Order: sequence, then structure tokens, then C-alpha cells
Amino acid sequence: TMKDVLGKYFLIGTAVSTANIDSKDPRVKQAIVDNFNAIVAENCMKGEAIHPEENRYYWDEADRIVKFAEDNHMTITGHCLIWHSQPPKWMFTDKEGSPVSREVLIDRMYHHITDVVKRYKGKVKGWDVINEAFEDDGSYRKTPYYNIIGPEYFELAFRFAHAADPDAELYYNDYSMAKPAKREAVCKLVRDLKAKGCRIDAVGMQSHNGTNYPDLADYEKTIDALSACGVKVMMTELDLNMLPNPKRFGGAEVSQHFQYDKSFNPYVKGLTRQAQKMFNERYLAFFKIYKKHAEQISRVTLWGLSDGDSWLNGWPIPGRTNYSLLIDRQYKLKPIVKDIIKLF
Ligand code: XIL
Repeated sequence: TMKDVLGKYFLIGTAVSTANIDSKDPRVKQAIVDNFNAIVAENCMKGEAIHPEENRYYWDEADRIVKFAEDNHMTITGHCLIWHSQPPKWMFTDKEGSPVSREVLIDRMYHHITDVVKRYKGKVKGWDVINEAFEDDGSYRKTPYYNIIGPEYFELAFRFAHAADPDAELYYNDYSMAKPAKREAVCKLVRDLKAKGCRIDAVGMQSHNGTNYPDLADYEKTIDALSACGVKVMMTELDLNMLPNPKRFGGAEVSQHFQYDKSFNPYVKGLTRQAQKMFNERYLAFFKIYKKHAEQISRVTLWGLSDGDSWLNGWPIPGRTNYSLLIDRQYKLKPIVKDIIKLF
């Protein structure tokens, strides 16, 4: 299985929901434990879920996912401490609804990071400390953290996390990492944090890939550039969007097979033969890269367990049927997995 063979090179993981681990369908748990040696919670450790109000935490789901990892001897990583999306919104405003001061937000960030990291001290291997903090052009994303605290929030977040669990690995995580300007910005962040004496172990390249993006040479360049900065690289959210993206998602445009296979209809069940071929070729191409760069890579995690679980059925257009992952809607491994294993 993937975990036996690929697991010799790096951790091989999947994102899971509590619906997955609670499922009465025995195929679900089997798919998790047979194929993977690492998990990450898809949503329940995010700020809005775990810290819905000041001084109130909702630990139940995260606790159960951490316990699932322990019971099944799997590694678990924490996703994610600071992110502009799905955030603990109360953190940014006072009771009157005005933006809080820099001091207040730093204090709230400190308590959030400290409480969450301490709860899973010794259990969570590492944390996505900050998620998606740069735009694709390399500029800082203007999040409430950035707007209220300024760029020092990066250093502060990493320091707070390290103080809460000195043994935990700490990561920066982002998408579109093959884009040169974003690659540069993240490399600079890594160098700056290290120069300031902060711990950072790895950078996550989310790898929400499509049939015609990212450019494979640029993707490899990012692996090399990051590892030249002295961090490991992790593929944290690997999937393959087989459906066309709307134009407003710059860069992504439409899937290649949609361009040349006019009969392809994303709303009809199943991929055309041509699309299936492309799915296989793309996954093989990415795993070839992971094999080649295995010494630089510490983990490859798929974002979701099966096609039926994938967030790409609902993003960026709701209600579609996507075929993004290596496990199908019946929780069966897709045939290409055998060929992926043979690469190693
Ligand atoms: C997604 C989840 O998969 C969805 O269930 C949720 O509705 C939205 O977030 N980048 C990330 C992940 O870092 O946390 C996102 O997960 C996908 C994009």
C-alpha cells in the first residue's frame, strides 16, 4: 500500500473530517488506516471552529481526531493557527464592533495559539502556524492580522507557538507556491524568521493542482528554493481539480481537457476517457517529482479521503461532481495508485 512503500520516503497523509472517523461504513476507516500513516483535521482545528468566542473553546471534534490518530498510530499535524479564512472573527473587534488595538489583537492571538498548541502538546507533531498570508504577486495579504498588527505578526505567531510546545514542528503553509513571486516571498519569510532566531521546520505547498497548472518546472523550482533556505517541504493539501475553473480565478482558467474535449461535461458522472488519462498522467507526474525530491520532502498529504469527501465538489462552484483524489466514491483505490507505488 502507499503507506508501506511511499512511507519509507516521507509521511503519506490524508485530511479527515469527524464525519469520516465517525462513519458507520467500515470502508471509511479501512481506507484511512490501510493507505496512510498521517492525518490532519480538515476543518475542526481552524479558529472559527475551535475558538468560536473569547474564552470559549470547542475541543470535542479536534480531541476525537487526535485520539483517532493516537489509537491508530498515525502522525497528526495541526491545521491551522492563524488564517484569514474561517477565523475566530470575534478576535478582530471589540464589543462595540470597532477594530481592536494592536495590543489587544496580539494578546488574543497569544491566548489562542497558546491554548490550542498546549492542549495537544506532545500529540500533534507540528502546526501550520500561518496559512495563506501572501498574495500570488508576493505582497502581504491584507488580513486583519496584517492590518492591525503589521508584518511582525509572523514572528509573534511563531514565537507563541514555539513557547507553547517547544518540541512541536512549526510550518508556514500556502497555495500557488509555484508562482515565482510567491515563492520568493515565502523564501524571504523563511530566511527572515531564521535570522530572528525563530523555529520553522517546513513549508507546506498546498498543491491544489489542476490539469494545466502549476507548471511542473516551476513547482520543482519551489521545492529546491525552499529546501535551499533550510526547511523541509511538505505537500499539504494535494488534489487535482478535474473541472474547469471560472475565469475570475486568474491563472487557473479552464482545465485543459475541457478546452480540447468539447464533449466533456463536468455535471455528468464519470470522467471521459481523455480526462481519465489526464488524471492519471498528472498524478504520476507529481509523484515522480516527489520521488525525485524525496530527501527534501517530509510529508505528502491528500486533501480529503475520497472523491465524495473532496471540498472540490463545492469549490469554487457549488454542487459539482469532482474526481480529485486517489480514492473513489466507493472508497476503492483508483487503478493509478498501483502505478504510483511502482514509481518508488
Ligand atoms: C477547506 C475545506 O476542505 C472545506 O471543507 C472548507 O469548507 C473550506 O476549507 N486551503 C486550506 C484548507 O488551507 O483549510 C481549505 O480547506 C482548502 C484551501
